[in-house]
Amino acid sequence: MRRHPQATLHQIDRIAAVWLLPLSILVFFLCCRASLRRPRKMPGLFCYLNGEFIPHADAKVSVDDRGFLFADGMYEVTKACKGHLFGEAEHMVRLRRGLTELRIDSALPVVDELPAIARKLLQLNGLADKDATVYVQITRGVAPRYHAFPAADTPPTVYVIAKPLAAYPASFFEDGVTAVTMPDMRWKRCDIKTISLLPNVLAKQKAKEHDAYECLLVREDKFIVEASHSNVFAVIDGQLWTPARDNILPGISRDVIVAKAGELGITVVETAIPIARWADITELFTTSTGPDVAPIVKVDDKVVGDGKVGPVTKQLLAAFAGRWLEEDKATAAARMAAAGVAVKADALAAKAPEGAASGAGAVVTA
Ligand SMILES: Cc1ncc(COP(=O)(O)O)c(C=O)c1O
Repeated sequence: MRRHPQATLHQIDRIAAVWLLPLSILVFFLCCRASLRRPRKMPGLFCYLNGEFIPHADAKVSVDDRGFLFADGMYEVTKACKGHLFGEAEHMVRLRRGLTELRIDSALPVVDELPAIARKLLQLNGLADKDATVYVQITRGVAPRYHAFPAADTPPTVYVIAKPLAAYPASFFEDGVTAVTMPDMRWKRCDIKTISLLPNVLAKQKAKEHDAYECLLVREDKFIVEASHSNVFAVIDGQLWTPARDNILPGISRDVIVAKAGELGITVVETAIPIARWADITELFTTSTGPDVAPIVKVDDKVVGDGKVGPVTKQLLAAFAGRWLEEDKATAAARMAAAGVAVKADALAAKAPEGAASGAGAVVTA
């Protein structure tokens, strides 16, 4: 029997009605899932990769890159304000030192070119008049997986990106933020800024899960030595305590604070912060590229001092802005505003705050 063409069309319509809707829902769901899983691209941003300025979305690195296989490389993060790279010289010194320690050639011409590459990226990414961060990563390059170093002529992989830096809210500096604690599980060369950051990742995740800003790293259950991505300072008996530069990542922001404290006549005691002195800690803050200074008012369930941002912290926040002033007058006002620091430039050489040891200004390595 011959089928009527209209009946066939009718049947197709029915099949479509029954199957097409669930199918399209399934396809839509799968597409959404795939796009959620895909790493977020940074539309419009350029990066530098191995000699070329290319769209970030097109940047590709081999799966044989030793950074991917062994975390065999290092990185730097510098803040830029209106095109000015903060602490450029210090960041370059730390980068070269790290490369030397890892036995990656620090005399490569590209290392000298990094500040120029960073400035060009700030331009390309429309950040020359904004706050930004510049991330540099150098790995030992691409080679078949084998632990020992690859052939000496293997070129390192060099990646640089400049991204916008969102302003921290005024409440961050005025009210302070909280921290949690965790044992320090890092290797003994955490003075090198390697890309091997798993303990730091786990620590920051703990902070995030507790709605805290930072996770302080505790050694031997006794000493606060650092934080997941910052250095740590405590005010004890009016003196400023911070772990010595060896066996921590010597932060550029840390060094600025130590220098500024000295200028302000605040005695700096360079030693790990003993948990046993908790009751004597009146102020606590962390330092890092980003906020510069982050006042910590609570750690785990313990309130620091009176739970408010203290006078030494405030003084040093202002003094940090003064460092921007020394480096680049045009950007200092913006930095001070961003940090919620209500101080005039010429007031930055203010006297030591109440509670700080006056006139000492010594750096004590305990
Ligand atoms: C573990 C650790 N300590 C300290 C710092 C602070 O260093 P800097 O002040 O140079 O940003 C960082 C910054 O990334 C860090 O990762």
